[in-house]
Amino acid sequence: MSTTIALFGANGTIGSRILDEALSRGHQVTAVVRDPAKITTTHPNLTVTTGDVLDAASVAAVAKGRDVVVSAVGGGGAEGHVATIRPAAESLVEALRGLGDAAPRLISVGGAGSLRTPDGKQVWDKEGLPEFLLGIMHAHGDALDYYRTVSDVRWTNLSPAATIEPGERTGSYRTATEDLIIDAEGASRISAEDYAVAVVDEIERPQHVGERFTVGY
Ligand SMILES: NC(=O)c1ccc[n+]([C@@H]2O[C@H](COP(=O)([O-])OP(=O)(O)OC[C@H]3O[C@@H](n4cnc5c(N)ncnc54)[C@H](OP(=O)(O)O)[C@@H]3O)[C@@H](O)[C@H]2O)c1
Repeated sequence: MSTTIALFGANGTIGSRILDEALSRGHQVTAVVRDPAKITTTHPNLTVTTGDVLDAASVAAVAKGRDVVVSAVGGGGAEGHVATIRPAAESLVEALRGLGDAAPRLISVGGAGSLRTPDGKQVWDKEGLPEFLLGIMHAHGDALDYYRTVSDVRWTNLSPAATIEPGERTGSYRTATEDLIIDAEGASRISAEDYAVAVVDEIERPQHVGERFTVGY
């Protein structure tokens, strides 16, 4: 069944893969971007519009009447993430809350930092992590803490594996809710293409409403 999706961050590294995956599976996507010139894809099921995820009125305008809002926004470095990730979560929730029972679901791209590691700690507890990375990880952690206070909006937060990069679309992945997914070689990784597969799978078959989950090989 075709779903109507409003996608923030559609021109980003991860968002552009989500855009391609959703279009290839027959969904109707509205790419919500600050600069439409950055979307070079053309497709009969694609509409491009301007919007700012930090402006709840702007979010509400594109969310209204759609089935799902996906946010794949980032902030560049640590400072940008602090200024963007939790504020975006608050703006998205405020907008969807305002739409009441007709509000779409929300799926947001999260971070790996808060995931549990085999030693019982969290990814961000590893010694020697650079300050900028810790800043980015905790920006996502703060947003997740916020989402976990929300029970009146159907949110899902999807943490990538520790490493997510453009690569191959295999269509295969494993999921978990709190534990970092590590492969047989000891690496935690997912291609941006397979991450996008997991996002669209969750859109088509909701399994993680009101929680965070993670995806890896
Ligand atoms: N292992 C991990 O945990 C991991 C690894 C990689 C990424 N991530 C997370 O995944 C997310 C996406 O990463 P990425 O590499 O795809 O980022 P990216 O390539 O930098 O793309 C970020 C996107 O967000 C958009 N954006 C930023 N602020 C916005 C706003 N106020 N309103 C609307 N759009 C806005 C940008 O639009 P403009 O082009 O207009 O700036 C861009 O499209 C980030 O939050 C990142 O931290 C997690």
